[in-house]
Amino acid sequence: MGVIGREVVLERRPARRGDFDCFDVVERRVPDPLPGQVVIASTALSVDPSMIPRLTADTYAPKFTLGRVIESRAVGRVVSSADDRWAHGDWVVHSGGWREFAVVDAATVTRIEPTPDVPAETWLGVLGAPGLTAFVGLDVARFTPDDVVWVSGAAGAVGSVAVQLAKARGARIVVGSAGGREKCRYLTEVLGVDVALDYRSDDLAAAILDVTGGIDLYFDNVGGSHLQAALATLNVGGRIAACGMVEGYGTAGLPAPHNLTEIITKRLTMSGLLVTDHLDKRPAFLAEAVDLVASGRLTSSITKYDGLDSAANAMSALLGDAAKLGKAVIDLT
Ligand SMILES: NC(=O)c1ccc[n+]([C@@H]2O[C@H](COP(=O)([O-])OP(=O)(O)OC[C@H]3O[C@@H](n4cnc5c(N)ncnc54)[C@H](OP(=O)(O)O)[C@@H]3O)[C@@H](O)[C@H]2O)c1
Repeated sequence: MGVIGREVVLERRPARRGDFDCFDVVERRVPDPLPGQVVIASTALSVDPSMIPRLTADTYAPKFTLGRVIESRAVGRVVSSADDRWAHGDWVVHSGGWREFAVVDAATVTRIEPTPDVPAETWLGVLGAPGLTAFVGLDVARFTPDDVVWVSGAAGAVGSVAVQLAKARGARIVVGSAGGREKCRYLTEVLGVDVALDYRSDDLAAAILDVTGGIDLYFDNVGGSHLQAALATLNVGGRIAACGMVEGYGTAGLPAPHNLTEIITKRLTMSGLLVTDHLDKRPAFLAEAVDLVASGRLTSSITKYDGLDSAANAMSALLGDAAKLGKAVIDLT
């Protein structure tokens, strides 16, 4: 290609939770594609909480390598192709990381068809892995329309889809929790949750018991204090979708909830999930989501951080930022 592209690399490992002064932006020559490869000019890069533990340690995915690009999903357009299936200008989702130009195997990219109403970055949020995660989470926790549901991290990428799917499927009551009054307003006014709780000022367990009398399904994006409140408020036979535990990311680990015996006394079921085990459910998810998006019952919020130099700010927003609603992306347009 003969062009120089910029990319974000891990310069050093963070010393503590919230230390994101660990990235560097470097320039590299973009190679020509080998047979079977495509070169993609990315327009938006995914920023995910699961990246935070990978800055320091192996998780279900290996830790990031010092001096190498930060791995992530991204969307963009093909600018050079050495594969018959792809032509200049095609829109794709790919896993080429936090860089302007990604050279990737053509077999690993997925075609998307953005429109003015459904921009490309929607495939990093509502129609992408976070949306599928919400769908799978309700599935593994055996959602029924009679359920009283609590979703934590409800203003985020996964949580915002989980509350809207639960509402659209007729859940009896949907409770969403998030940090701050502004996010709580977003939950009720935009996402349509029945009850919004601010975990920074509300006593979650007391408030949930007060307004619902008890929940049937807890969709856990936070862990720690929130999981403890869920164990205290779940009804007998209640179910937990263990999706994420962001309260502990970037720490040495969270203490276990002090009330784990509730699992026995209430005969609770806690089901862990990794979305990558459920990629076969994507067609079923899209069949439900695309109609809901078209009818306005599944709204998509994207918060954009401008350019590769905003990587540290974008990452910090995942640990709490009143301005971040829905999916966080680094915008390269
Ligand atoms: N299992 C899987 O396959 C899978 C796939 C994707 C994501 N996940 C998990 O799902 C969860 C949500 O991911 P996402 O992509 O949708 O991220 P996100 O919710 O868009 O961003 C993370 C949110 O976490 C909240 N948060 C941070 N620290 C917190 C704390 N101490 N207590 C309560 N809330 C806190 C922040 O919201 P507030 O401003 O409201 O605090 C922040 O907006 C994460 O735990 C992630 O690891 C799992």
